[in-house]
Amino acid sequence: MKNTVSTLMSQKQSGDKITMLTAYDYTTAKIIDECGINSILVGDSLGMVMLGYENTLPVTMEDMIHHTAAVARGAKNAFIVADMPFLSYQTSVYDAVLNAGRLIKEGGANAVKLEGGAEVCEQIQAIVNASIPVVAHLGLTPQSVNVFGGFKVQGKSTKAAKKIIEDAIKIQEAGACALVLEGIPSKLAEIITKQLSIPTIGIGAGSSCDGQVLVYQDMLGLTTDHVPKFVKQFAAIRTAMCQGIEEYIRETKSGEFPSKEHTYQISEDILAELTSED
Ligand code: KIV
Repeated sequence: MKNTVSTLMSQKQSGDKITMLTAYDYTTAKIIDECGINSILVGDSLGMVMLGYENTLPVTMEDMIHHTAAVARGAKNAFIVADMPFLSYQTSVYDAVLNAGRLIKEGGANAVKLEGGAEVCEQIQAIVNASIPVVAHLGLTPQSVNVFGGFKVQGKSTKAAKKIIEDAIKIQEAGACALVLEGIPSKLAEIITKQLSIPTIGIGAGSSCDGQVLVYQDMLGLTTDHVPKFVKQFAAIRTAMCQGIEEYIRETKSGEFPSKEHTYQISEDILAELTSED
């Protein structure tokens, strides 16, 4: 059954944890969807894990639409959330509504996600007024990497923690349907989760959130890049891929592959005609 805003909301109320993973392409989205995930995030993390950028800042609306549409073709039941890339909503309320609309119309997303608190409440309100669900994102918001001076845990001082709590309340009042909390102390995430009526989805924010999200390359062990402390690797897919690829190289070089089993045949009569002298 298709997961919707109401599914996530009733999961918060019943205590059934919300599961979310990123996906950026048709095949991966189909696998994740068929495993029974509640929600797929087409994160702008695609800039880093799919396109090889240093951070998420270079990601464009065209990148997001392209990847969201692929995910939407693969995922039938998951609630699909598409990230609004850097400068697609900060510039004006008009830009925010227009670009959110494109992710829904052209990308096939069910909701959009944007980063920030009080400063983007006008945008959240306007997007929601256009009948588009909005997921907010607070804490270690990667689009602010240059302000933070790196990917650092946020909300560790009283002032910073209070600001995140205030922002969480404001984005809920503005109409957000869920909140991603990234890279904050677990006790702070617990306070926010208890105060809000909308679900919180944590990444590096402890176990008290109403759900969890991870980047799939991290949790499946696909990357050799630095893996943050909050990531648990649930599988070793890179090792399995390397084994398969190395075996392919070996068998191709030795001539073992392709064997008869993987080769098309032609009838002996036709072969004789093809190879006869006249
Ligand atoms: O872009 C992304 O994948 C995200 C998650 C890290 C929450 O925003």
